[in-house]
Amino acid sequence: STPGDLSGTRIVITAGGTREPLDPVRFIGNRSSGKQGVALATAALRRGATVTLIASHLDVPVPAGLTVVDAPSAAELHDAVTDAAEEADVVIMAAAVSDYRPAEVQDAKIKKEDVGDELTLRLVKNPDILAGLAAAARDGQVIVGFAAETARSDDDLLSIGRAKLERKGCDFLVVNRVGWTEGFALDTNSVLVLERGGNVTAEASGTKFAVADRILDAVTAPARAS
Ligand code: C5P
Repeated sequence: STPGDLSGTRIVITAGGTREPLDPVRFIGNRSSGKQGVALATAALRRGATVTLIASHLDVPVPAGLTVVDAPSAAELHDAVTDAAEEADVVIMAAAVSDYRPAEVQDAKIKKEDVGDELTLRLVKNPDILAGLAAAARDGQVIVGFAAETARSDDDLLSIGRAKLERKGCDFLVVNRVGWTEGFALDTNSVLVLERGGNVTAEASGTKFAVADRILDAVTAPARAS
């Protein structure tokens, strides 16, 4: 990863956890900190890429020098990344996108005085943004997904990853294990990068910044080769 080796490459990165609104003051969210996505953006910027960061909820600051588009919910993220992808060589979907959203968003705060002792929320499925980007990709455009899995073993992680790669139709899938005490919010990460077809093309452990450089090496290799 020499400084400047990605100059001329346009990279769009989504990061953070989406927040699906329930009412004006509440949402359904997840524990993603955005650290790995922001580390990817920082590393790509340092290497000379033109970077657009599509930001859902982040627990970390964003470096200067990139274009930031705020996209709190899955629907907003969908629109922002679909738009940005038109001008991108590489799209990296590091955001933790909610699989479901509340079927109805209330205009006024939900009040316990009105609801009583039990509140049932009905959720509807969000579209799979990554699969949509992969299906619409231009020739030569590289689409990268992430999969954070509570796998029982490394073998388990690999087979879940391969099935997901196939299902999403993307070029690369970055797979990592998560649990109550691993993955989210930490400054380190341990990932496998699967390429189309299911081979492991890179393995990286260390700080999220070091891991970011290895991921960028792997996913920009096809562009360098051509
Ligand atoms: O299916 P799963 O949520 O594990 O897939 C994770 C990958 O898919 C991530 O790259 C995430 O950004 C993306 N995703 C998406 N749209 C969704 C759900 C996940 O693009 N609705």
